Amino acid sequence: MSTLIQTLNVTKAYEKFVALRDVSFEVREGEFISIVGPNGAGKTTLVNVLTGLLKPTSGQVRFKDQDAAGIGPVRLAQLGMARAFQLVHIFPALTVGETIAVAVASQLGRSRRLFASLAGDAGIQKRVRTVAEIFGLERKLDAESRLLSQGEKKLLDIASAFALRPEVILLDEPTSGVSTGDKHSIMQVLVAAARQAGVKAIILVEHDMDLVAEYSSRIVALQEGRVLADLPPAAFFNDPAIVAAIVGKRTTH
Ligand SMILES: Nc1ncnc2c1ncn2[C@@H]1O[C@H](COP(=O)(O)OP(=O)(O)OP(=O)(O)O)[C@@H](O)[C@H]1O
Ligand SMILES: [Mg+2]
Repeated sequence: MSTLIQTLNVTKAYEKFVALRDVSFEVREGEFISIVGPNGAGKTTLVNVLTGLLKPTSGQVRFKDQDAAGIGPVRLAQLGMARAFQLVHIFPALTVGETIAVAVASQLGRSRRLFASLAGDAGIQKRVRTVAEIFGLERKLDAESRLLSQGEKKLLDIASAFALRPEVILLDEPTSGVSTGDKHSIMQVLVAAARQAGVKAIILVEHDMDLVAEYSSRIVALQEGRVLADLPPAAFFNDPAIVAAIVGKRTTH
């Protein structure tokens, strides 16, 4: 399968503190990669580097054979990589429909248009409805985002990323702060949506090892900014030293 994302010897330092050291790995078509590691291991830093939000201090980041180091999430989304932003872009006063419409419009290069004109655009509204249906949010289209349950907010966040029609989707702890039961239903909706939308690869940062074991095709484990393991789930969970290093120090948050 062809390579979608490649990092080569990526190092990222925040002034003197080195958050990623010599990180090299690939994401190929069809893969579901989980990035795991204790708090502070560098997972979010890696996602920020992969989405072009942070420029690596040294090393290469390539997306579909193009240099993607520091190119920024907007440009990267245009190339086909989208990211769910852990709720930061959910504006509480916007309705569900308006939130998805903003994402659809930005995918169409119309991000500067006013909400009023988005609401009147039949093409955009059709796409909004389709995305909402995939995520079970169709009955909430007119509800203000702030009134959604935590699980529905997570789904809306992920739905907005899907509205960008990405080939690759990155999710940084999409299920944090929701109940175990809700975590599983969010993951099921996400995986079904990815299949339906033709998403070629999913990259997930996740602390919940049950979810990691259930959904990943490969696990990249970070420890103090280095790749400790890059293994299929069976090999990962059969190595007590690796599991202890990653899970042993875990704190949920
Ligand atoms: N902007 C920053 N400036 C300085 N240090 C930072 C910055 N962002 C992150 N760090 C440090 O880099 C290290 C890695 O942080 P990062 O957020 O990537 O970890 P993480 O694996 O995502 O952790 P968590 O599981 O808590 O989300 C941490 O020690 C963190 O304190
Ligand atoms: Mg993090």
